[in-house]
Amino acid sequence: MQKAENIPVFRLNTGANMPAVGLGVYQMPDGPLTRRAVDYALRCGYRHIDTAMIYRNETSVGQAVNASFVAREDLFITTKLWNSDQGYEQTIRAFQASLQRLNLSYIDLYLIHWPVHGKRKDSWKALETLYQEGKCRAIGVSNYMTTHLDELLGYCRVMPAVNQIELHPFLYRTRAGIVELCRRSGILPVAYSPLTKATRLRDERLVKMAAVYGKSPARILLRWALQQGFAPIPKSSSPARIAENIDVFDFTISPEDMEVLNAMDENLTTGWDPSEVL
Ligand SMILES: NC(=O)c1ccc[n+]([C@@H]2O[C@H](COP(=O)([O-])OP(=O)(O)OC[C@H]3O[C@@H](n4cnc5c(N)ncnc54)[C@H](OP(=O)(O)O)[C@@H]3O)[C@@H](O)[C@H]2O)c1
Repeated sequence: MQKAENIPVFRLNTGANMPAVGLGVYQMPDGPLTRRAVDYALRCGYRHIDTAMIYRNETSVGQAVNASFVAREDLFITTKLWNSDQGYEQTIRAFQASLQRLNLSYIDLYLIHWPVHGKRKDSWKALETLYQEGKCRAIGVSNYMTTHLDELLGYCRVMPAVNQIELHPFLYRTRAGIVELCRRSGILPVAYSPLTKATRLRDERLVKMAAVYGKSPARILLRWALQQGFAPIPKSSSPARIAENIDVFDFTISPEDMEVLNAMDENLTTGWDPSEVL
């Protein structure tokens, strides 16, 4: 068990702190499984939960955090606007619905889930309104590649605080351009599917390196993300793995081994690839 106060934070461009590791809840069904996973994560020291309207489990996430021993101001809750809700008015409505399902009075971070062509500008304007009204403490984007982010930077009045994109050693060098643009612009890259959805945890090179450090392959991937300056949001519904994934602050990967990991890029996207979105 980690003590929440020992978990490092990333400082967002809003001045708010985001706990460096979050629990992702994609593909966890609404109901006891999600409630138990969130509750257990909070006991393990997690304070940052990443959900989305399209995960259809905001209600359970809200129930777990509201029933927990953790004060609201110590939690960092992210949710996201789904594609079919994009557009100014629709976004405002979708946000209110998320807030209601979560049963919270504000969201820490609200993201545009996907850069929908023709809609994303109006959606961003709505996020700016919600931010200015204090209904969300930070706003950001997800799956924005350089063309989408360059475009946004041309019209935004509020800078996005984060860009949540798929990042792991198997998808790193091919993402160098967007990572660099985020860093230059003061936008925190949040690493989704940081464990490659468990598809590369048996990679021989990774397993060998993990043995040298005496850590699991999953911990090596999470540590890699942190040392790159990315906030990883691993998903697990197993208590043992939830605990394992936040126990990553007692070792450091050497610069040489970071380079070995960086060189593993194979342009692996485990979900939808936003690179082709106009
Ligand atoms: N913005 C977006 O478009 C987007 C897209 C994808 C994901 N995300 C976010 O990112 C989060 C994480 O990504 P993800 O769910 O795609 O994949 P992930 O975190 O890379 O991997 C999850 C998989 O790894 C397994 N796992 C977890 N910890 C493990 C460990 N220590 N050892 C071995 N296996 C382990 C999990 O199984 P068990 O549950 O059985 O442990 C699950 O099968 C999501 O939940 C979501 O919040 C966002």
